[in-house]
Amino acid sequence: MSVLPESARPVSLRFPTGFVWGAATASFQVEGATTVDGRTDSIWDEFCRRPGAVVNGDTGEPGADHYRRYSADVDLMSSLGLGAYRFSVAWPRVRPDGGAVNRAGLDFYDRLVDRLLEAGIAPWATLYHWDLPQALEEAGGWTSRETAYRFAEYASTVAERLGNRVAGWMTLNEPWCAAFMGYGSGRHAPGVTSANSAVAAVHHLLLGHGLAMERIRAVSSAPAGITLNLFPVHPASDEDIDAARRVDGLQNRVFLDPVLRGGYPADVLADLTPYGLPDLIRHGDPEIIAAPVDLLGVNYYRELLVAAPDAPHDGSPTEWVGVEGVRFLSSGQPVTEMGWEVQPAGLTELLLHLHREYPGVPLYVTENGAAYPDIVTPSGEVVDHDRIAFLDGHLRASLAAIREGVDLRGYFYWSLLDNLEWAEGYAKRFGLVHVDFQSQRRTPKESARWYADVIGRHGLPAE
Ligand code: FCB
Repeated sequence: MSVLPESARPVSLRFPTGFVWGAATASFQVEGATTVDGRTDSIWDEFCRRPGAVVNGDTGEPGADHYRRYSADVDLMSSLGLGAYRFSVAWPRVRPDGGAVNRAGLDFYDRLVDRLLEAGIAPWATLYHWDLPQALEEAGGWTSRETAYRFAEYASTVAERLGNRVAGWMTLNEPWCAAFMGYGSGRHAPGVTSANSAVAAVHHLLLGHGLAMERIRAVSSAPAGITLNLFPVHPASDEDIDAARRVDGLQNRVFLDPVLRGGYPADVLADLTPYGLPDLIRHGDPEIIAAPVDLLGVNYYRELLVAAPDAPHDGSPTEWVGVEGVRFLSSGQPVTEMGWEVQPAGLTELLLHLHREYPGVPLYVTENGAAYPDIVTPSGEVVDHDRIAFLDGHLRASLAAIREGVDLRGYFYWSLLDNLEWAEGYAKRFGLVHVDFQSQRRTPKESARWYADVIGRHGLPAE
């Protein structure tokens, strides 16, 4: 028997036993059926209808029509060998206008969860992926503390119904986007442009998260936590260190620290004092927000290379409260259709950072993915080698972090299906599965087969 020298043996690229292989979607982006079974408007329905909306009147209807086609979509998931499906629950279906419970709306998630379980796919539910009932926005939305209490009631309704059939709960998806894009720059619904409102939204979203954790715990023993969009942040030069600190504060630490360390970081609190943050924090809030979590969902897309403003701010609405006019530089990597640089090493860096700075919380990559201009060939294929390279790079980056001791327990590709990419409309295709929005035909892309193969061998092809 010949024994290969160590250096010549294929490297084992297997993931740890129990590692969860998933894909993700979100209600408003895939469901369609926005006016059926008692659903009322969310802030995104209203936002998409505004004259001149960047989304050009795309209202999510019929979108990928997942509300009606969920059963066939679960078959599709089975054919890929997915172990888990991360979906979000639409608040305006379950409690239209933020009011009384609507059984018909709740029934949909009941059916979806049962169908997933039947197929052996673990259901992972996000309670808030940005579709706030429009009626609640009219009462102040996330700038109002009341919305946090309404969210807790809604969370309780869903958790009671789905109970332990769900494998994992995420209270909020990316509160950064909900607060700073929704209320700061206004690039997202509800399109408000006020720094103070964005800061109020941050605190009330966090409060809603903490209150919802309590309600979930009361009725479900499934692991629960929050999903944040996190970025490694680097200054472009020594002159940019303070701008980078502020960006890191607004993007990452303003959420991580209250949830995992019991309060806002001192520097962030000081930066946001002129925008009213201290006045929003009531006695007992920090403890509610710091309710222990069983998991942290990490959505990773890219790094941020920060340069301080080089000119006085022109006053246009921005997400960067207190660091208006900050610039984001390219590091020269290839970009996806979103213009986002492909930076897999940033994922390893981020996971290691979280592991060291916020130890003891199991991590899941709850989103990571890329949009490319996918085209179905006449023979019915989508040859998306760029996406395969993206996936391969980020899965290797995940494995590198695991080998350094990071407790990373799963990976959810964004997205299962092509869908409505918010203010970008339908043109940005992130799916493993191509969707023809006219005919509703689903075509698994080459990347879907590649991912299925990875799932099948529980690891990457050896080098
Ligand atoms: C994230 C969102 C998700 C999707 C991806 C591309 O910020 O959570 O809904 O739009 O970006």
